[in-house]
Amino acid sequence: MAVQDFEVKTIFFYYLFPVIALLLLLRVLKYLKPRLLACGCNAIGKRIHAKCATEKEQLFRHLDRDLPHHKLQILEIGAGSGLNFKFYPEGSEITSLDPNQHHKKYIETNRDKLNPKVHLKQFVCGFAEDMSCFDNESFDVVVETFVLCSVRNTEKVLQEVKRVLKPGGKFFFMDHVAAEHSSSLRWFQNRLNPLWKAAADDCHINREIASTINKIGFSSVEVNQFNLNTFIVLIKPSIYGTSVK
Ligand SMILES: C[S@@+](CC[C@H](N)C(=O)[O-])C[C@H]1O[C@@H](n2cnc3c(N)ncnc32)[C@H](O)[C@@H]1O
Repeated sequence: MAVQDFEVKTIFFYYLFPVIALLLLLRVLKYLKPRLLACGCNAIGKRIHAKCATEKEQLFRHLDRDLPHHKLQILEIGAGSGLNFKFYPEGSEITSLDPNQHHKKYIETNRDKLNPKVHLKQFVCGFAEDMSCFDNESFDVVVETFVLCSVRNTEKVLQEVKRVLKPGGKFFFMDHVAAEHSSSLRWFQNRLNPLWKAAADDCHINREIASTINKIGFSSVEVNQFNLNTFIVLIKPSIYGTSVK
């Protein structure tokens, strides 16, 4: 009997308990991950936005030029915590799309703080690769900042952006990108990309985003290069610009 007890205890402590503990840990991590990412995106996003404040001002300064001035329909993909709200013209109607639903509360808070004169029309939980929830030609403006580095399929996202834009509509973008081909920084970006991706929620540091935007068939594309003001050299090379459908 005592030997059987000993065997049951051994099986429990050495085999069952570690498996149960591991399964519980995985469940806790699955629960915490999107919440922590949303919280981190809000905190880190504020610092990143401060580091490219000048370029953001440049990018959005003529947001409503050549576009209707009344209730501009804006779609922001990968909206994160909604830090771009402050650049949207009064009266605009914003649709925020992000696969992480926990961003919604930060978006609402930041809208109230940064620009209460714009209207958050809807928050859609989804991926920009498939925006079938939106009709063709339904937005005057589409915006993305620091999202194309993380999406699964950049080309598909950009095709969807073009589809949902009205004719003459504008796409505003800002991203960190791959360094020049032959540079030593590019060599490091290529080598460290797998590690970076694993640590930074699938963010790629070596994407050639400008050339992909150029391939999509917008009627015009304007790209400006700049260095992000950060000590993290790997994400310094950056671009911002606009494309017109
Ligand atoms: C680095 S954050 C940038 C957030 C915000 N745009 C900003 O500039 O502060 C990247 C955002 O893209 C979102 N994202 C990741 N993959 C996406 C996808 N396939 N479609 C749309 N958004 C995505 C993430 O959930 C996250 O909110």
